[in-house]
Amino acid sequence: MSYSKFIPSRPAVFEMAPGRMKSVEELPIRSIGPARAPLPPGPQGHPILGVMPEFNRDTLGFIERCRDYGDVVRARFLYVTAYFLYHPDDIEYVVSTNPRNFVKAMSLRSNFFHRLVGNGLLTSEGELWKRQRRLAQPAFHRQRISAYGDVMVDYAQRMIAIWRPSEIRDIHRDMMRLTLEIVVRTLFNADVSEDADKVGQVLSQIVKPFASQATIKWILDNRLPTAAHRRFHREAQKIDEIVYRIIADRRASGLDQGDLLSMLLEAHDEDGSQMTDKQLRDEVMTLFLAGHETTALTLSWTWYLLAQNPLVEQKFHGELDDVLGGRLPTLEDLPRLKYTDMIVREAMRLYPPAYGLGREAIEECEIGGFRVPRRTQIFMFQWVTQRDPRFFPEPEAFHPERWTEEFAGSLPKYAYFPFGGGPRFCIGNTFAMMEIVLVLATIGQRFKLALAPDHPVSILPAMSLRPRNGIHVIVEKREV
Ligand code: HEM
Repeated sequence: MSYSKFIPSRPAVFEMAPGRMKSVEELPIRSIGPARAPLPPGPQGHPILGVMPEFNRDTLGFIERCRDYGDVVRARFLYVTAYFLYHPDDIEYVVSTNPRNFVKAMSLRSNFFHRLVGNGLLTSEGELWKRQRRLAQPAFHRQRISAYGDVMVDYAQRMIAIWRPSEIRDIHRDMMRLTLEIVVRTLFNADVSEDADKVGQVLSQIVKPFASQATIKWILDNRLPTAAHRRFHREAQKIDEIVYRIIADRRASGLDQGDLLSMLLEAHDEDGSQMTDKQLRDEVMTLFLAGHETTALTLSWTWYLLAQNPLVEQKFHGELDDVLGGRLPTLEDLPRLKYTDMIVREAMRLYPPAYGLGREAIEECEIGGFRVPRRTQIFMFQWVTQRDPRFFPEPEAFHPERWTEEFAGSLPKYAYFPFGGGPRFCIGNTFAMMEIVLVLATIGQRFKLALAPDHPVSILPAMSLRPRNGIHVIVEKREV
C-alpha cells in the first residue's frame, strides 16, 4: 500500500500528536466562541467538479494523501462540501460525544438506499430510530443469538464438504454465499427457505452494479432515469412482494420460529405498540444488506492475510488443534480461541469492510479548532485512521500479536472503530464476531488456503471494501 510514502511529509501532524493523545479523556466539548474559527485547509480540485475526479480515480490514495493537510481537511465534491476527520478525538466528538448535532451523510439518504432499506435502523433518524433500536436490540443480545452458532458451523461445514484438494476457488465468492445463507436462515428460519433464497439472490444481483461505483459519484448518478435504475426499481418491487408475503404468513401462523423475524414480530414498545409490516420489511432488508457482505468481506480479507503470513497461519492452526482437537467448534469454544479473535481484529484494522463513516452537521459547530458550517458532510475513514503510525507501530504490518489487552486499552477510543461507535454502533457486532470466528475455525481446521499464482488481488472501495476480482486460492486439506 502506498500509505507509508506520505508519512515523512507530515511534520505538523506529528508535532501535534503527543499533546492531543494525552488529553483524550478530558476532551472538552467545543462550542462556538465569539471569534469564528477558521475553515480547515484542503485540496483545491477542479474549478467545477472539485475533488470528485481524483476521488473517483483513486479513492483510497486520495483520502490518504489528504491527511497531509492535517487532521481536519476540507474538500469540495461539485456543490457539496465535505470534511475529512482523521484524529480519534475528533471522530469521538462527532460519533459519540455530540451525536445529536449530526445525521447520517447524504450518501445514505440517496434514492437507491432508501428504496432498499426505507426507514430501517441504518438510515432512520431521531425518535423513529430510537424506537426501532429499542425494539430490535433484544434480538441481538448474546443469549438470543447464541442459538445461531450451530447454524453458522453447519453451513460452513456443508460448504467445505464439496471442496476438493488442490482446486482453485474464489474464496470471496464462497464467503459471500456462505454469509448469505447464514443470514437467510437466521432471519427467516428454514420454513420459507425458497422465498428467502430468492430474496438473497435478487438482492445480491441488484446491489452489484451500484456497489461498483464510488459512493459520492452515486449521489449524482442516482437521479437519472437510466435503464439500470429502472431495472433496479423493478427488482426491488419483486423483493418487497416476497418479504411482505413472508411477514403475512408468519403473522397468520402465529408460530415463534426462534429466528430474528419472530423476535422482531414479537417486540413490544413500553406502550404495547409493535412494528408495522412496512417497518418490519425495512428492518429485514436492512439486516440483509448490513449483515452479510460486511461479514463475508472480513472473512475474505482474513483468508487473504493468513495466506501471506505463514507464521500467523501456523499459530492459528496450532490454536485450533489445541482447543478443538479435531471436533467442530461450538460457542463455548469462543473464549478460548483468543488468537483467532486477535487475527480477526487485526484483519479488520487493515481491511475494514466499512472503510468510512459519514455524517452531516445539523448546526454549525467547531471541530479540532475549525469551523464546520451546517450541512457539511463529514467523513471519518477507518481505512486511514486505523493505519495511522501515531497509534499503530508498523501500521502496514499484519501483526495480530499487537492486540494485547494493554495495547487495546491504551489506544484512543476512536483509533480503531470497524463497527462505528456511539449510539449508532453496529447492532450486529456480536453476531458478526461470533460468525467470523466460528467459520474461520470450522474451515481452518480442515483446510489451508494458499494464494493462487497469477491472480493479483486488488481493492475496490465501493459501498464497502471489496476485492475487485475476487481472491483466488488453492485449497489443501490439513492433516489434523
Ligand atoms: C464484520 C461485520 C460488520 C461490520 C464491519 C459492520 C460495520 C458497521 C458499522 C461501521 C456501522 C455503523 C454505521 C454508521 O455509524 O454510520 C454498522 C451499523 C449497523 N450494522 Fe453492522 N457491521 C457488521 C455486521 C453486521 C451484522 C452481522 C448485522 C446484522 C445482522 C449488522 C447490522 C447493522 C445495523 C442494523 C446497523 C445500524 C445500527 C443503527 O444505526 O442503530 N451489521 N455496522
